[in-house]
Amino acid sequence: MGKDIYILGIESSCDETSASVVKNGKEVLSLVINSQIDEHKKYGGVVPDLASRMHVEAISDVVKRAIKEAKIPKEKLSAVAFTKGPGLIGALLVGVSFAKAFAYALNIPFIPVHHIKGHIAANYITYKELEPPYLSLVISGGHTHLIYIKSHVDYEIIGKTRDDAVGEAFDKVARVIGISYPGGPKIDKLSYDGKNNIDIPTPKVDDLDFSFSGIKTHIINYVNSKKQKNESIKKEDLARSFTDKVVSILIDKTLLASKKMNTKKIAISGGVSANTHIRREFNKLKEKGFEIYFPEFVYCTDNAAMIASQGYYEYLDKNFGILEEDAKANFKIGV
Ligand code: KG4
Ligand code: ZN
Repeated sequence: MGKDIYILGIESSCDETSASVVKNGKEVLSLVINSQIDEHKKYGGVVPDLASRMHVEAISDVVKRAIKEAKIPKEKLSAVAFTKGPGLIGALLVGVSFAKAFAYALNIPFIPVHHIKGHIAANYITYKELEPPYLSLVISGGHTHLIYIKSHVDYEIIGKTRDDAVGEAFDKVARVIGISYPGGPKIDKLSYDGKNNIDIPTPKVDDLDFSFSGIKTHIINYVNSKKQKNESIKKEDLARSFTDKVVSILIDKTLLASKKMNTKKIAISGGVSANTHIRREFNKLKEKGFEIYFPEFVYCTDNAAMIASQGYYEYLDKNFGILEEDAKANFKIGV
């Protein structure tokens, strides 16, 4: 048995300040998440300046608590992994600067982690046996990607959204029917009380790419025309029809990708993978011989444990940061 590797992860790409200590990539010793949602809610979405300020205020305490709850002396840490991007530049910079300073003071390496790779790693925490190669579907507020995972550090993007991300569509649809940010979880619940009785056209996109802006616009137009005619809208039916449409698009494209890549091993992650309808329908594929993986709920939305987990694999691959390491708002995966 080799030496145990303890990674401190730091995530600050959007509206959560989070820190976590993970042992050997899979064992979460602590996870602290300081959510700013209640503040941003007042403005109907994430306000970048406010996010940066709140990260600055929270980060030192969040990291301190994560180390304390992990019950290991900080001298035992092997490296500090942080989200380099993509995300809000001001928010990312807080995590990057803190991680660099912290690692420098402890004389240990720091590891830049791509946020989407972090989302993918969330499944390694939940399923200790999950190993590449497999197909990954990442669905979050900012991303919708089909990725072929060749190894823990080597990826190939095989499909992505051409416009809105799935989570963005959930949040916008919620907004037009008067549901506060973030609307995804509320649409999820509301869908149980509704019927799929509103016709929503399926976007025509070639290959493995996605498009969600047409669906979003269709729903906005539907709501507006109902309002003009003074007709009532049943929010539950709208939520259900929208959710079912999204589920069928995600499943169709993923099955296409699975065929193309010749694998029945599929891991889904990202904030929207918390959606219970998406989980139910994908899990049904198990009856057809597919292996389906979803992270535990806490590891679906942004958290630092997933960053520490991916940080472990980057550590083994010696992908360390340089002192000039900077945040990158539009950080490309695999580059
Ligand atoms: O991964 P995440 O925390 O942040 C990004 O990296 O973007 O994802 C946040 C997104 C939001 O759009 C939120 O509405 C959505 O995930 N979300 C959900 C659910 N829980 C979170 N969408 C649908 N159903 C849910 N249960
Ligand atoms: Zn995320």
